[in-house]
Amino acid sequence: MCSYNNSATNSSDVNSPEFEQNDMNSPDDHLMNTVCLRDSGFEQRLAALGCSEFVLPCDVVDNLEALDSHSANYVLSLENDQIQLAPRDKSMGNPVVVDFASGTIGFRGRQNVRQELLVKAVFGRDKKSPPSVLDMTGGLGRDSFILACAGCNVTTLERNPLVFLLLSDGLYRAETNFELQTIVQRIELHFCDAVVAPAIALDKVNFDVVYMDPMFPERTKSALVKKEMRVFRDVVGEDVDVYQLFEQAKNVARKKVIVKRPRKSAFIKDKKPTYSVEGRSSRFDVYQV
Ligand SMILES: C[S@@+](CC[C@H](N)C(=O)[O-])C[C@H]1O[C@@H](n2cnc3c(N)ncnc32)[C@H](O)[C@@H]1O
Repeated sequence: MCSYNNSATNSSDVNSPEFEQNDMNSPDDHLMNTVCLRDSGFEQRLAALGCSEFVLPCDVVDNLEALDSHSANYVLSLENDQIQLAPRDKSMGNPVVVDFASGTIGFRGRQNVRQELLVKAVFGRDKKSPPSVLDMTGGLGRDSFILACAGCNVTTLERNPLVFLLLSDGLYRAETNFELQTIVQRIELHFCDAVVAPAIALDKVNFDVVYMDPMFPERTKSALVKKEMRVFRDVVGEDVDVYQLFEQAKNVARKKVIVKRPRKSAFIKDKKPTYSVEGRSSRFDVYQV
């Protein structure tokens, strides 16, 4: 099973076969734009992540010569001990890497996370006991990390194999960092599609809060201005099943569902939330269930 679980006290429910339903061999058009340099270093890292059997749905080469003659726009490889997804066109920005130790996310994690809008939305009035959270849309793990910094135990799902590998690798390296260890141990990552994961498998674990931040098809151009976001969208594509995800979230949440939206955009399914926590560019719609 290619599921990254840092916690020594994993729930047996979420490790059940019901969580292993992703077909790692299934083709995905978005990923065809990518070539993976699966050299010995990459293989070793896959083994360390427990992902040796991972069959990436993109072209794979095992040497630099083959890589040079490949026409894909993105390269997935192990560079400087990190798995990265790099656009070949340098004007598309820097390689995408998950690094919880530095950069914006490392900085935000060290700040007063209780001031983060997502944390306010998740905790609500109860400032003391951190709720358990199911993050259905793991992505690069920033939101899961912020919530773990605030003390929440977070079960994180990601269905895109490339994104899953980037995030698994970021968590793996964070595990070796003394300062981050205890934080990332609160995150349990699974390679899993939240829509088709049987509600019963999710339900058993009883999540106080279910959080979703999908790539809404109509996501505004301003979000696309960020280069990293453009790379992400090019490789991941849009999440066209956001309504089903919302229904699943409502089935699974014990207390509330939180949906992240661009600040000025419509409510999901035009459904008015119980309340919203608003920031400058984004909004967290809270649905009490
Ligand atoms: C906008 S990104 C999430 C960013 C994330 N909140 C963060 O802090 O980095 C959306 C991610 O959700 C994933 N996703 C969308 N629908 C999903 C589903 N049904 N199950 C699992 N992952 C899903 C996509 O593959 C994508 O990586």
